[in-house]
Amino acid sequence: MTATVITGIAELVTNDEDLEGADHSEHLGRLRNAAVIVKDGLIAWVGPASRAPEADRRRDVGGRAVVPGFVDSHSHLVFAGDRSAEFAARMTGVKYDGGGIANSVWATRAASDDDLRALVGARIEEMRAQGTTTVEIKSGYGLSVEDEARSLRIAAEFTSETTFLGAHVVPPAYVDRRAEYVALVTGEMLSACAPHARWIDVFCEPRSAHAFTEDEARVVLSAGRDAGLGLRVHGNQLGPGPGARLAVEMGAASIDHCTFLSEEDIEALAAASDTTVATLLPGAEFSTRSRYPDARRLFDAGVSIALATDCNPGTCYSSSMPFVLALAVREMGLTPAEALRAATVGSAKSLRRNDIGVIRPGSRADLAVLDAPSYLHLSYRPGVPIASTLEERGRHGS
Ligand code: NIG
Ligand code: FE
Repeated sequence: MTATVITGIAELVTNDEDLEGADHSEHLGRLRNAAVIVKDGLIAWVGPASRAPEADRRRDVGGRAVVPGFVDSHSHLVFAGDRSAEFAARMTGVKYDGGGIANSVWATRAASDDDLRALVGARIEEMRAQGTTTVEIKSGYGLSVEDEARSLRIAAEFTSETTFLGAHVVPPAYVDRRAEYVALVTGEMLSACAPHARWIDVFCEPRSAHAFTEDEARVVLSAGRDAGLGLRVHGNQLGPGPGARLAVEMGAASIDHCTFLSEEDIEALAAASDTTVATLLPGAEFSTRSRYPDARRLFDAGVSIALATDCNPGTCYSSSMPFVLALAVREMGLTPAEALRAATVGSAKSLRRNDIGVIRPGSRADLAVLDAPSYLHLSYRPGVPIASTLEERGRHGS
């Protein structure tokens, strides 16, 4: 396999705290005038351009900044239909309660495999065009054995980070038979879905009649664990609730949303920071006109933090990690460096991965290139398409 040396990197953010000669302020492992050698899809060498070894090919990025590709560790890309009217109603004051998920379920069930595949593919293209190199994809708009398994089969064509979310909401047909739905999710549906999933997730939210209680969520997570899946939880999104503490109790890799956390929740998450990551999804707060989680407080308390888009048709139809970074800095009190780490090495940790989110020899060669001299521009230039993956940039020159 040929080796390619990438040069013309004005600023390289590696997240590698051991990189010799790097600026280690804010844990970014930053090098100016750097070069990277890529071989077989992996990073083979990182260092100053002046010391770069020879390689078969050379690619010059023309004085741009390079950062680890974004790890979008929370998305719901397998859906059809349009819920923009729901968004418009919310902007006039209607509150989000998860009820609109049923609309996406009807539309998703009605779509053909090819239609769904094309929709997921287009959303992933959008993500890549904005610098995302890894995406986690959940099911959750099928909510029948066949439709959940189909959603995961299609998701698995695009990523290895697939999550079974049969416990997204209780479908309308089961509102008076909740226990039966939980039995279906943890029985036949789990058996059909587990072969296509790495993770299981549950929407645990006592404030939504559509979501699952703490006890129901515990049953779902236990069954998933018994089936060999890793655990993730949607919780504390609409109000205070048991999600965060349940995630810690069960050793989940991630508790996602964390909009409403108590001091006890924060303490529990800080104590579990090696195991459970708080994944913040500020695009959802933006699109539901909700308050933002206090990321600054979480960070200072020692909680492990990740950032992701939550790209979905209800609470945040945005595929943009740079948008999420800008919100994290402007609205949640993170520094640009903290936000970048949360969106790369932090979200990699929430997926229990150490081969992504960092640029060091042996890690995956997943790189994002910025049309800017420094990573600071990610949050300094919101809404401007400065980030893309290295491959994407190759298609459009330099
Ligand atoms: O993460 N909260 C639950 N699930 C999604 C929204 C799903 C929808 O409304 O379609 C979320 O916000
Ligand atoms: Fe979500």
